Amino acid sequence: MKINLDDFVKSRILVIGDIMLDCYLWGKVERISPEAPVPIVQTLKRTYMLGGAGNVALNLASLGCQSDILAICGNDRAGSQLKEMLAENNINSRLITADDHLTISKTRIMALDQQLLRIDEERIQMLKTELQESLLAQIKDIIPAYNAVILSDYGKGLLQTPEMTESVISMCKESNIYVLVDPKGRDWKRYQYATCVTPNSAELNLVANEIIESEAELISVSQRIKTQYSLEWLLVTRGSKGMCLTSGESKSPLLIPTQARQVYDVSGAGDTVIAVLAAGISIGLSFQDAAILANKAAGVVVGKVGTQPITRQELEEALLR
Ligand SMILES: Nc1ncnc2c1ncn2[C@@H]1O[C@H](COP(=O)(O)OP(=O)(O)OP(=O)(O)O)[C@@H](O)[C@H]1O
Ligand SMILES: [Mg+2]
Repeated sequence: MKINLDDFVKSRILVIGDIMLDCYLWGKVERISPEAPVPIVQTLKRTYMLGGAGNVALNLASLGCQSDILAICGNDRAGSQLKEMLAENNINSRLITADDHLTISKTRIMALDQQLLRIDEERIQMLKTELQESLLAQIKDIIPAYNAVILSDYGKGLLQTPEMTESVISMCKESNIYVLVDPKGRDWKRYQYATCVTPNSAELNLVANEIIESEAELISVSQRIKTQYSLEWLLVTRGSKGMCLTSGESKSPLLIPTQARQVYDVSGAGDTVIAVLAAGISIGLSFQDAAILANKAAGVVVGKVGTQPITRQELEEALLR
């Protein structure tokens, strides 16, 4: 694969989707509460990570791409925290603060590196027509400046209305901009005509309405779904089994085995995959090469403790292997 990672600085990618704040409360447990049979966690520190679509944008910025994010947050502390973190990480924020929205946050209570409890604050909220129209007008204005758009759908509302997702995809197609989708749910109609959709195995089972067991089934179902939704490409991420890329033409699919050497934490690997895939095609790689690159990157991030983005340096090293 001929690739110059310096080219990433020239790629401009817009992430649109559900952003979340991942919060970790680290503490120690020394006693059980007298009030109820539960451990008492004495907190020592609090750390934050960009989650959901925020993690996709973080992976892009970490590679040196121009990474922009358009998402909705609430008028609350978690929303301000997200904005600060985007700025610190060189992500160009187009975050919209909506008074009637709640910033999605997930707080993990950690003791001895173990998760004791997770507290989620979220309200799944369909976009109001007015907000949707103003978002679409804004997207229409800015879209020609990008090489690729990523729709990071975590099912929290922004990309749930068909009009929103379909309009963005058609704007991208009109301007000849790649549009890649990390999907949610069994109804993919709104993703129709996307350049590529990147389900994991469970998400593919859901949309196909069957449990795929053999590789032959995987290949035939991938082909069927790609055709049914008029996609150019379908990239199925298969956890420890790697990936399967079904091509635009009638070529046979590409099965890519995993590159992971050790596995600590697989969460966020899907975000890395779609970020690297978009970055790769933005700098002129073929879809096949970009998928191979994304697979190498995923193999690195699953070996890191906690959800971490891929760095340019790590990708460079992985390329030499
Ligand atoms: N257990 C594993 N061993 C080796 N590689 C893995 C493992 N899990 C994931 N990977 C790598 O990461 C890629 C994406 O993982 P996966 O298919 O689990 O996506 P995902 O379910 O969308 O992830 P997430 O939603 O947690 O971000 C895989 O294609 C593979 O390259
Ligand atoms: Mg995923």
